Amino acid sequence: MEQTYVMIKPDAVQRGLIGEIISRIERKGLKIAAMRMNVMDKNSAKAHYKEHSERPFFTSLIEYVISGPSVSMVVEGNNSIVIMRAINGATNPVNALPGTIRGDLAVETGRNIVHASDSPEAAKREISIHFKDDEITGYKKID
Ligand code: CMP
Repeated sequence: MEQTYVMIKPDAVQRGLIGEIISRIERKGLKIAAMRMNVMDKNSAKAHYKEHSERPFFTSLIEYVISGPSVSMVVEGNNSIVIMRAINGATNPVNALPGTIRGDLAVETGRNIVHASDSPEAAKREISIHFKDDEITGYKKID
């Protein structure tokens, strides 16, 4: 079963949107296979956003994701990577369609409330930054 990494970012936690966001993921039919709420440590945040390290917004991005508690999840299901990106909507909420999390609940790129891995390679890498193997639950198939 395909797995992806999803983060409910500190602004969403502060705004009381954890339940709203998890509810959308579950209603779609995806499963939460691991979940933790914590203030992300700076090294994990830097490793997570390594590909943006040369971008002008990198420092503010890191300060933002460690500014308060966030919720880290492994989300599982067929095509979960592409489906989670669709549920989240475009990175810039200005371009995110109504019905998506960012389209309905966010207004700016720098406070776009959720993150989801953008490829199978990124999902594997990001899950390994935030979770140990034994923290991820397996679902048994019911015949
Ligand atoms: P995310 O989906 O977590 O992946 C990279 C993040 O970088 C993105 O969401 C935004 O939070 C942030 N980001 C991307 N572009 C910009 C930008 N131009 N200004 C500020 N933050 C950005």
